[in-house]
Amino acid sequence: MTESFLQSVSYENGTLTILDQTKLPNLTEFIKIDRIEDAWDAIKQLKVRGAPAIGIAAAYGLLLGIQHATEENFDNFYEDFQKHSNYLSTSRPTAVNLFWALKRMNERVLKEKEKPISSIKNALEEEAHLIRQEDEEVCRSIGEHALTLFHDGIGVLTHCNAGGIATAKYGTALAPMYLAKEKGWNIKVYADETRPLLQGARLTTWELQQAGIDVTLITDSMAAMVMSKGWIQAVIVGCDRVAANGDVANKIGTYGVALLAKAHNIPFYVAAPISTIDLSTQTGQDIPIEERNAEEITEGFGTLTAPVGVKVFNPAFDVTPAEFITAIITEKGVLKGNYQEELPKLFL
Ligand code: MRU
Repeated sequence: MTESFLQSVSYENGTLTILDQTKLPNLTEFIKIDRIEDAWDAIKQLKVRGAPAIGIAAAYGLLLGIQHATEENFDNFYEDFQKHSNYLSTSRPTAVNLFWALKRMNERVLKEKEKPISSIKNALEEEAHLIRQEDEEVCRSIGEHALTLFHDGIGVLTHCNAGGIATAKYGTALAPMYLAKEKGWNIKVYADETRPLLQGARLTTWELQQAGIDVTLITDSMAAMVMSKGWIQAVIVGCDRVAANGDVANKIGTYGVALLAKAHNIPFYVAAPISTIDLSTQTGQDIPIEERNAEEITEGFGTLTAPVGVKVFNPAFDVTPAEFITAIITEKGVLKGNYQEELPKLFL
């Protein structure tokens, strides 16, 4: 079953290959990228999206930037490297995995500084591949830990897409669905469509349906009703950044889902790799929230659905305060209680 996974980001011989997620579910189209500017654009335009996948794409994008570097001395090469890294860091502001991956590449380049430039380039390619491979293992562990909170037959609601195509494999919030399927459990997934760009409708239902997992699409405004019917025993979402106090930024609408879960006494879980935890951001209020074009709301998929010139507010993410989060599930286990105290222990 898990063999059906498509690799949304890969890199070989100086070419970055990306599954163009803006075309799904109508077209399964891979694009080949060999310029850093096109990697930047693919991240900005959400061709590659989801926090871990953005981080992987940024690491590979950096390789594209430096692949033709001709400098022979480290200082000049490093100057070039930093310029490319800073450029990629301007593509999207909220998912900390982007900055995490670039930082990791920076640590590696500094570690190799005494070596010839050609060896440094090879080491950086190795590091980018490691970031991808590790994410796959991390996601599987998140799935295993999340599964300890679920049982056969339950209904689970999710928002946005935190699935296999948003990561190296399995996803974060969707990982337990895949692992449950492997165990022969039947989990009934409800996917919020996730306005305005419909990651739930276009991506989550698409990937779960392909894997033969029971999935039902609902509009965002139906979540309360579905919960009130008793069909949901748990909510699980991915996330873009966890602040030091446990507040979490995720796709716009997540906060509302958390409030609904609280009102219906349903546990609200956040699945996040440790690379998504940012202890240098104190609270959710300090997380930079991306605002995107008005057209995503007024003519999202080509049809005008609002009057021309109307004022629009289009934040791509919102912050769910820690108090509404039943547990944060990382590759190291299930975290509950005082997040401010518990989160730093994950880094020990
Ligand atoms: O704007 P997007 O589609 O990149 O937003 C994605 C999300 O909010 C996901 O839930 C999050 O990045 C986790 S993906 C494992």
